[in-house]
This record gives sequence, C-alpha cells and structure tokens, in this order.
Amino acid sequence: MIILMIVYFITLPVLTSKPVMGDATVEEKTPQQYISSRVVRTKYGDIRGFIVTPESRYLEPVEVFRGVPYASPPVGSLRFMPPVSGAQWSGVKIAEEFGPVCPQVLPDIRNETVVLKRISKGRLEYLKRILPFLTNQSEDCLYLNIYAPAQAGVRDAVARYPVLVFVHGESYEWSSGNPYDGTVLASHAGLVVVTINYRLGILGFLNPRSDDYPRSPANYGLMDQIAALHWIKENVAVFGGDPTNVTLMGHGTGAACVHFLLTSLAVPEGEFHEFFNDFNFKIPGLGILRIGRNKFS
Ligand SMILES: *[C@@H]1O[C@H](CO)[C@@H](O)[C@H](O)[C@H]1NC(C)=O
Ligand SMILES: *[C@@H]1O[C@H](CO)[C@@H](O)[C@H](O)[C@H]1NC(C)=O
Ligand SMILES: *[C@@H]1O[C@H](CO)[C@@H](O)[C@H](O)[C@H]1NC(C)=O
Repeated sequence: MIILMIVYFITLPVLTSKPVMGDATVEEKTPQQYISSRVVRTKYGDIRGFIVTPESRYLEPVEVFRGVPYASPPVGSLRFMPPVSGAQWSGVKIAEEFGPVCPQVLPDIRNETVVLKRISKGRLEYLKRILPFLTNQSEDCLYLNIYAPAQAGVRDAVARYPVLVFVHGESYEWSSGNPYDGTVLASHAGLVVVTINYRLGILGFLNPRSDDYPRSPANYGLMDQIAALHWIKENVAVFGGDPTNVTLMGHGTGAACVHFLLTSLAVPEGEFHEFFNDFNFKIPGLGILRIGRNKFS
C-alpha cells in the first residue's frame, strides 16, 4: 500500500511533466541521448533503443524504446477484429520514433476565450502540451513505448525491475501513450515503465456486429490492452522487467479500462491478484491493478 502511494506521488508530476523530447516548446535543456550499444532480442525480433540521461545528478540514465509493435496492424481485414499477434521481423529495429497514434479527432483549442469557458487554464495548458504528440495518426497504431533503467540489461534475472503499465485516458476517443514520458519515473523509482496505444472511438469501441449473440463483444480497444499485457508478459524480461510483477495503472478513462479488465470475461479469473481503485486512495480517476507472481500466464 505504501509503495503504491509513493508510486502515485511520483507518477503524476512525472507523467504530466513536459516530455523529455519533443517540439520546440521545450524550454528545459534537452537531456543527452545516444543510441544504445546493446541489441535486445524480443520474441518477435531484435531491437535497439536509445539512452537518455536526465538533467539531474540524482537520476541514472534510462534506456528508451519507442514505437514497439505489440500486435499486427489492425488494418484491412483486421479492422473491427480482435488484435492478432504481431509478425516477426528480421534485422534490428531502431526504436527511436514513436509509432503513430490511433485515428482520433482532437479537441479544438484554437479559440482560447471560448475554450476557457468550458475548461480550466491548467487543463488548457495540459492540452497544449499533449496535442502536438497526437498529430501523426494511422490505423496502424498498436505500439508501446518502454522506459527501462539503463543498467537493466546487466542485472541478473533475480533482480529484475517491477513493471508499471500506464493506460492513458481521455474519453475513449483520443490521446495515446506517446505523450507520457516515463523516463524520470523509471529512473527515480527503479521501474520498467510501459505506455501503450489502443484503438479508440469507433474503431476501438463500436460493435459493428449485427447478430444479437450476447457473447460477441467488440471492445477492441480493451482487447488491445490485453494484447499489450500479453506482449509485456512475454517480452519484458529482456528489457530488465519482472514479468511476474506487473502493475497496471490507468488515468481517467484509462482507470475505467483497468476496472473493466478486472471484470472482463476475456481475462481469466485470478489473473489479477490485487486490485486498488481510486476510492481506496481517494485519488480521483486513478485505477491501479497489480498483476502478481505466476499470474497472467
Ligand atoms: C508518422 O509515423 C510514420 C510511421 O511511424 C513515420 O514513417 C512518419 O515519419 C511519421 N510522420 C511524422 C510527421 O512524424
Ligand atoms: C473567439 O470566439 C469569440 C466568440 O465566438 C469571438 O468573439 C472571438 O473573436 C474569437 N476569437 C478569435 C481569436 O477567433
Ligand atoms: C513487486 O515489486 C515491488 C517493488 O519492488 C515489491 O514490493 C512487491 O513485493 C513485488 N511483488 C511481487 C508479487 O513480486
């Protein structure tokens, strides 16, 4: 409980802080970064990330992998279908660029006078910060990003880092895992932080089936989240994460998704062994789910 509280206090400032890399509006000094010397061997192919050294002498470097595919692109005949495992690739993928975000209509904040009648100034500032990350949209969007303490690769198997998976919010219709930079959290807390994309809006949540068969669920966005968790379970060890210690954390509607996964028929009973919701902690809009040892296998 105490650990989770700590995670909360360091998480929100970090997750909402200015992204480390990004557009020209970043006025802090850009942290040093260079391509990692090691190649990580996932079940689907080899991948090389990059090392980010945060501008703080208290923070150790973090190895970042952006745009890692966790399922086949849900395009063509796979549109409106549950996610399908990704294909293997050959050669070494350089995980430097974010994957595209899922198709979405962004909130219009051009006329600030009008916008500020509906939302607070803080919320507007937040939107201004994350919207630039959401312009590169494609149906081919099932990607995740990994932030691992840079020493992870040299640690032995018994000392792997706990894994924290962040499920973004914003009304099931827009946003992505990409704007939420896990670098500082990974370094400060000693965690492998994973942010995920999942299908949104019509492509993620419309049930296009015309039969009334009640067991034909169509929450493809939620199924994407489950697929991402399976990918993490399968591959996170090579990034230095402990696949038996995965915590799922959602913000806003992402917290609701975490609740849905808990009650979903698609997630076998007993898969999640501990569950904390926002009411226990009086943290509005934050759901936390701990996936324990030998679960989610
Ligand atoms: C958008 O994403 C695609 C696929 O990753 C990439 O090839 C392209 O360069 C990106 N475009 C921009 C403007 O970032
Ligand atoms: C914003 O909207 C208000 C009300 O519709 C209008 O009076 C104002 O001119 C608009 N401002 C800009 C910069 O377009
Ligand atoms: C997961 O990691 C945390 C932090 O190191 C630890 O407190 C907890 O006991 C671990 N849980 C399991 C199930 O290994």
